[in-house]
Amino acid sequence: MTSELDNLRVYGETEVGWDENTPPNEKLDDKGNVIPANDLHREDPFAPSRRIYDDPEVEALRERLRQNNGMCGLDIFDPNEIEEINRTFHRDGFVVVRDLLDEEQLHRFREGCARVLKELLSIPGPGNRKYMTETGRLPHRYSYGTASSSRHLMHDPVWASMVDLPTTTPILTALMGNDEYYVWGGGGDLCLPGAIEYQQLHADFKDTQKNGKVRLDFLRATGLIDVDTDKSFEELDFPTKRLVFDQTPPTITINFLMSDLTWENGPIRQIPGTHTMSQNPPTLAEEADWMRWSTLVGATAGSGVFRDNRAWHSATPNLSKEIRSLPNLEYVPSWTDDQTLLKSMPYEVWETLTPNGQKICRAITEGPGVWPEGAGTMHPLASKRIWTKKRHADE
Ligand SMILES: [Fe+2]
Repeated sequence: MTSELDNLRVYGETEVGWDENTPPNEKLDDKGNVIPANDLHREDPFAPSRRIYDDPEVEALRERLRQNNGMCGLDIFDPNEIEEINRTFHRDGFVVVRDLLDEEQLHRFREGCARVLKELLSIPGPGNRKYMTETGRLPHRYSYGTASSSRHLMHDPVWASMVDLPTTTPILTALMGNDEYYVWGGGGDLCLPGAIEYQQLHADFKDTQKNGKVRLDFLRATGLIDVDTDKSFEELDFPTKRLVFDQTPPTITINFLMSDLTWENGPIRQIPGTHTMSQNPPTLAEEADWMRWSTLVGATAGSGVFRDNRAWHSATPNLSKEIRSLPNLEYVPSWTDDQTLLKSMPYEVWETLTPNGQKICRAITEGPGVWPEGAGTMHPLASKRIWTKKRHADE
């Protein structure tokens, strides 16, 4: 019997997705029980009411996307335009760079993404649903990272092989302020065709801003900004303190594009300048219309988005027949306490890296012969991941 998963690819047309038996906004708890969406708990109150490709409400949303989707005047740079990339990243909290991957690297990443996705989708959903939705996530959306028991895919040779590329390393060195930064993980996210809901705008984490002295010392040592050298962090005025935090992103993620981002296939959206915001982003009911269209349409397969993870962003509806897959790698600057980084890379994978790859993965690599906890086990349900981790610990 042939299955839609047999020839799964994360680019081009596919039969995967568009499961009309999975209601809009439906979420599963950690055990796979349906948490019914009600009027108070609908992540996207404006989502079409049926997950069907040619449903009239889907057609209406598709028409709005066709007319409006895509950020106006989005800059897309070549990898060697380091100065412009650096300036744009610190101004906007993200920057798009084309041709980060060559043809062979793009092919390798696509194969890896399809292999892992096939594993996730082969687990049947509850009732008559085609797929098991990932715990706490909107339907038809998965995270390569959170679906892994180790929270990362750094044990996977494909992800590991992308940490140090001729195109990305000079850019990361500029954005990080030096070449002593670390890889702290990798994974990424994807949406299937028929992911009809908008995800809420969010920052990946809140900057606690508790380490002003460390970040000020770093800025002074690297000469990135000119700060009054006679004063301690506590003695600086408030705007200068803010500037210290603004200019030192605690993490930078590169999302690599496996397909072109189009108005229809769930391009990610970024709200420029929000990496320095203290307030919370608006809900979908509260946000402005222009925020819905602030997506990275026009970025092509093989490109990447360097993201300050503090910047507001979210996934958008994929009304096409193509999977939108964005594997990622996550980096932290040299001022990070390396004891806080999880060990997710086996020594035997680390040995295969370039000398610089080995250097930047130094803090996440296990000792020889030690397999990182949870690595290699993927499941959409949180309870299964915890169970696997417990079993691993008992062995
Ligand atoms: Fe996110």
